[in-house]
Amino acid sequence: MFFPQIVIRQQVTVHALKTGIKAHSGRLNEVRPNPKIYKLFLKVTMNPELEKDVKSEYKELLIKSGFPIAAKELELLEVNDLGLGDIRKEGFAFIDILRTKRLRITILMLLPNQSLPQHVHPPYEEEIGKEETIRVIFGQTKVYSSKDNQGHEPILIPAGKEKYYTARYETKLEQGQQYTVTPNTNHWFQGGSEGAVNICFQNRVDETRNIFFDPKSEGCLIMPTDE
Ligand SMILES: [Fe+2]
Repeated sequence: MFFPQIVIRQQVTVHALKTGIKAHSGRLNEVRPNPKIYKLFLKVTMNPELEKDVKSEYKELLIKSGFPIAAKELELLEVNDLGLGDIRKEGFAFIDILRTKRLRITILMLLPNQSLPQHVHPPYEEEIGKEETIRVIFGQTKVYSSKDNQGHEPILIPAGKEKYYTARYETKLEQGQQYTVTPNTNHWFQGGSEGAVNICFQNRVDETRNIFFDPKSEGCLIMPTDE
């Protein structure tokens, strides 16, 4: 049980390092884990009690937002700490309310000051990369992009992770405001002091191609064929 887990994690680290280095060289993702196998091991890292607690916090946040959601959709809520082991600082929760072959619409939730770590949706094969628009339904979301190196205010980067959060141009989004992240742009999100509920509009890509800057990150492995 433990042996394959270790092997798979090593593959992902190698993958993240290689692809991170090659992110802008046009030679992408030469080493990639098999997502179907890898997914089996993803849930192992989070303490079940903690997962249960944060899940109910996310659900409360979503209900508070007033976004209409069916009970059976609420049960689809997934918490992802990206394998980094510090969910309140780095991670997110989501519910895909629509997944077709071409389109993905997601309710993305962030706890207070929680960061969805820096990543990029790179081009690969015939795909130019994911374009994603994030719109705040409740609370505040800060978007950091590589548009510029200067932040407007001190940025709450998780301690010791500065080198993985290099995109520092801040855009604060309040309820009803939105931001489009163009393909192949380094970016990360952070919830405001009340947390945030967002709706995200995205074209479908192979999410296993996403490059997270922290090499320990396990990413968000959703294949274009996943329904
Ligand atoms: Fe993204």
